[in-house]
Amino acid sequence: MPKLTVVNRAGEESTIDVEDGLTVMEAIRDNGFDELLALCGGCCSCATCHVLVDPGFMGKLPQMSEDEDDLLESSDHRGETSRLACQIAFTTDLDGLKVTIAPED
Ligand code: FES
Repeated sequence: MPKLTVVNRAGEESTIDVEDGLTVMEAIRDNGFDELLALCGGCCSCATCHVLVDPGFMGKLPQMSEDEDDLLESSDHRGETSRLACQIAFTTDLDGLKVTIAPED
Protein backbone atom coordinates (compact mmCIF):
# COMPACT_ATOMS: atom_id res chain seq x y z
CA MET A 1 0.00 0.00 0.00
CA PRO A 2 1.29 3.49 -0.74
CA LYS A 3 2.63 5.37 2.24
CA LEU A 4 2.00 8.86 3.51
CA THR A 5 4.13 10.60 6.11
CA VAL A 6 2.34 13.09 8.35
CA VAL A 7 4.08 15.63 10.58
CA ASN A 8 1.86 16.90 13.38
CA ARG A 9 1.99 20.34 14.99
CA ALA A 10 4.44 19.09 17.60
CA GLY A 11 6.82 18.13 14.78
CA GLU A 12 6.33 14.38 15.28
CA GLU A 13 6.44 12.30 12.13
CA SER A 14 4.30 9.20 11.50
CA THR A 15 4.03 7.10 8.38
CA ILE A 16 0.69 5.53 7.49
CA ASP A 17 -0.56 3.19 4.77
CA VAL A 18 -3.22 4.72 2.56
CA GLU A 19 -6.05 2.69 1.09
CA ASP A 20 -6.91 3.21 -2.53
CA GLY A 21 -9.49 5.88 -3.26
CA LEU A 22 -8.94 8.06 -0.20
CA THR A 23 -7.96 11.70 -0.17
CA VAL A 24 -4.99 12.85 1.91
CA MET A 25 -7.48 14.45 4.35
CA GLU A 26 -9.42 11.18 4.80
CA ALA A 27 -6.22 9.21 5.30
CA ILE A 28 -5.02 11.64 7.98
CA ARG A 29 -8.40 11.87 9.73
CA ASP A 30 -8.99 8.12 9.68
CA ASN A 31 -5.64 7.55 11.34
CA GLY A 32 -6.57 9.54 14.40
CA PHE A 33 -4.82 12.87 13.83
CA ASP A 34 -7.32 15.09 15.62
CA GLU A 35 -5.42 18.28 14.75
CA LEU A 36 -6.80 18.10 11.23
CA LEU A 37 -10.39 19.13 11.84
CA ALA A 38 -11.70 18.82 8.27
CA LEU A 39 -14.92 20.43 9.42
CA CYS A 40 -16.68 20.52 6.06
CA GLY A 41 -16.01 16.84 5.42
CA GLY A 42 -14.04 17.46 2.26
CA CYS A 43 -16.26 19.73 0.20
CA CYS A 44 -13.67 22.51 -0.05
CA SER A 45 -15.39 25.07 2.12
CA CYS A 46 -13.64 25.22 5.51
CA ALA A 47 -9.82 25.21 5.06
CA THR A 48 -9.36 23.26 8.32
CA CYS A 49 -7.55 20.53 6.37
CA HIS A 50 -4.67 22.86 5.45
CA VAL A 51 -1.33 21.08 5.04
CA LEU A 52 2.13 22.05 3.83
CA VAL A 53 3.34 19.61 1.20
CA ASP A 54 6.93 18.46 0.82
CA PRO A 55 8.28 20.62 -2.05
CA GLY A 56 9.52 17.58 -3.96
CA PHE A 57 5.93 16.46 -4.55
CA MET A 58 4.38 19.73 -5.64
CA GLY A 59 4.63 18.82 -9.34
CA LYS A 60 2.75 15.55 -8.82
CA LEU A 61 -0.32 17.03 -7.16
CA PRO A 62 -3.62 17.73 -8.90
CA GLN A 63 -3.98 21.34 -9.99
CA MET A 64 -5.45 23.77 -7.47
CA SER A 65 -8.99 24.97 -8.12
CA GLU A 66 -9.98 28.60 -7.72
CA ASP A 67 -12.07 27.69 -4.65
CA GLU A 68 -9.10 26.03 -2.98
CA ASP A 69 -6.89 28.99 -3.80
CA ASP A 70 -9.45 31.43 -2.32
CA LEU A 71 -9.81 29.41 0.87
CA LEU A 72 -6.06 29.15 1.35
CA GLU A 73 -5.82 32.88 0.87
CA SER A 74 -7.88 33.29 4.06
CA SER A 75 -5.20 31.50 6.11
CA ASP A 76 -2.53 33.43 7.99
CA HIS A 77 -0.24 30.45 7.54
CA ARG A 78 -0.32 30.05 3.79
CA GLY A 79 3.05 29.06 2.39
CA GLU A 80 4.51 28.21 -1.01
CA THR A 81 3.47 24.58 -0.67
CA SER A 82 0.10 25.00 1.04
CA ARG A 83 -2.75 22.76 -0.09
CA LEU A 84 -6.08 21.59 1.25
CA ALA A 85 -5.66 17.91 2.03
CA CYS A 86 -9.24 17.10 0.97
CA GLN A 87 -8.41 18.20 -2.56
CA ILE A 88 -5.57 15.71 -3.01
CA ALA A 89 -6.66 12.23 -4.09
CA PHE A 90 -3.96 9.88 -2.89
CA THR A 91 -2.77 7.80 -5.83
CA THR A 92 0.15 5.35 -6.03
CA ASP A 93 2.05 8.15 -7.77
CA LEU A 94 2.11 9.94 -4.45
CA ASP A 95 3.68 7.03 -2.56
CA GLY A 96 6.10 8.53 -0.02
CA LEU A 97 4.36 11.91 0.10
CA LYS A 98 5.08 13.94 3.22
CA VAL A 99 2.73 16.61 4.53
CA THR A 100 2.86 18.80 7.62
CA ILE A 101 -0.37 19.85 9.32
CA ALA A 102 -0.48 23.65 9.10
CA PRO A 103 -0.68 25.75 12.28
CA GLU A 104 -4.21 26.53 13.45
CA ASP A 105 -5.73 29.75 12.09
S1 FES B 1 -12.10 19.47 4.74
FE1 FES B 1 -12.99 21.43 4.52
S2 FES B 1 -11.80 22.31 2.96
FE2 FES B 1 -10.92 20.38 3.23
